[in-house]
Amino acid sequence: MAAAIEPIPSGRLFGLGVGPGDPELITVKALRRLRESQVIAYYAGPHKHGNALTSVESWLRDDQERLPLIYPVTGRPPPPPFDYEGTMRAFYDASAERVAEHLRAGRDVAALCEGDPLFYGSFMYLHDRLAEHFDTEVVPGVCSVVASASVLQTPLVYRDQTFFVLAGTLPEADLERLLAETQAAAIMKLGSNFEKVRRVILRLGLGGRARYVERATMANEQIRPLAEVDPAQVPYFSMILVPGERWQGE
Ligand SMILES: C[S@@+](CC[C@H](N)C(=O)[O-])C[C@H]1O[C@@H](n2cnc3c(N)ncnc32)[C@H](O)[C@@H]1O
Repeated sequence: MAAAIEPIPSGRLFGLGVGPGDPELITVKALRRLRESQVIAYYAGPHKHGNALTSVESWLRDDQERLPLIYPVTGRPPPPPFDYEGTMRAFYDASAERVAEHLRAGRDVAALCEGDPLFYGSFMYLHDRLAEHFDTEVVPGVCSVVASASVLQTPLVYRDQTFFVLAGTLPEADLERLLAETQAAAIMKLGSNFEKVRRVILRLGLGGRARYVERATMANEQIRPLAEVDPAQVPYFSMILVPGERWQGE
């Protein structure tokens, strides 16, 4: 009688929130999963290391295989006829297939994600394509909004105040309408959108409350008064917080 062939179980996919940059701001659970994984998948720009990899590098061993997923486009997308959406979809499909090859071979893959994986996280594109086919676990991370509030030492929202998270990529009129509606906000994805966002903040009379930070908790973190920020130097990893008015008691 032929010996039964044992099926090779698939590897597990871990979506790991690695926190905002400081290597110590990874959770104990994410660190355990990171060190258990044979393959470390991470996104990075062309010729770049990737912030998520940088923040966990001190925790990795040499025998863990690195799987870089290099973005085909970063920064402001080229104008039409360049098909930005189609290019990114094809990139995420191909990235998921590269991860799936390891999972099918029985290797656990840790997919790194800055901050939290399910909060505007790059891991979501892998999750959308792979989670229903493979054993998947998501480990939350310290997201950049709360990390920025911590380094700025600014309470974000008191009591029943409303808090909006906005992308600086929104059209100026939408930003103005939404910021006028809320009592507190975080505005992410600044980069080349900074000047537009600052204009709106000043028009709404929020300049006194708004706080700017770039690369919060990373080695090259910078905090500057909004008025002194040079728009040409604003990196993608930056944020403006408009904290709620301080609670003065009943
Ligand atoms: C694609 S989102 C990723 C969010 C991430 N998943 C999280 O939980 O924070 C990228 C945006 O997050 C913000 N961001 C991420 N890390 C940051 C940091 N260390 N300091 C300031 N902003 C940061 C920036 O606004 C950046 O444009």
